[in-house]
Amino acid sequence: MSDNSVKKTSDNNNDKNLVNIYKLVVLISGSGSNLQVIIDNIDAGNINAKIVAVISNRANAFGLERAKKSGIEAKVLDHTQYDSREAFDEELQTLIDDYSPDLIVLAGFMRILSDNFVEHYTGKMINIHPSLLPLYKGLHTHQRALADRQTEHGASVHFVIPELDAGKVIIQGIVDVKVDDDAESLAKRVHQIEHQIYPHAVKILAEGLLKYNDGEILYHDKPMLEPLKKQLITS
Ligand code: GRF
Repeated sequence: MSDNSVKKTSDNNNDKNLVNIYKLVVLISGSGSNLQVIIDNIDAGNINAKIVAVISNRANAFGLERAKKSGIEAKVLDHTQYDSREAFDEELQTLIDDYSPDLIVLAGFMRILSDNFVEHYTGKMINIHPSLLPLYKGLHTHQRALADRQTEHGASVHFVIPELDAGKVIIQGIVDVKVDDDAESLAKRVHQIEHQIYPHAVKILAEGLLKYNDGEILYHDKPMLEPLKKQLITS
């Protein structure tokens, strides 16, 4: 698909109040705790944006309840009903574009996305991955960090490109690995730092402080040479 533009013909967005608001579509598959902190930050006035839809590929994703509770449109697009990845992604793209979002936020969306889909949203789609990229792309990141006896681990928010977990990183949250950590205890602390860095990334994107420009990140209109960093402080 060569058309990179996001369709602007939504019936959903004829509401004049929405014209100047930075619009998010959030994709989830599960609990949606990252979705929740983004909702909370918007409600608290920390992020100047509106979530226009939450879409899950799983009907039982708890994040759908979180969305409904906050009055956000919650949709299910069940990938098992499609013959191919491409067919599902095409339908998902149509659904998303109907909301004319400024940003697509992957928040625990457990699907590999086809290249055409990803390229359609170049510079407009971000993901949070539970590792300090480029370390530990893919799954089981906490186990792998422990097996390598890392002293630091964490999470990264990055732009999505066709290569898995390989897009430019916006911000990383760092946690110390403790001697008695197991994958569960480590995952818990990584989640804590995720809940700080993901809303921050959305905030600076919504404010236009951070931009994607031809494969590079601009921060305050200057090339960002390395990701922003935040360390988890625990007592
Ligand atoms: C997070 O750990 C994130 O790093 C990964 O999926 C998980 C989503 O958690 N991509 P939640 O659904 O936001 O609680």
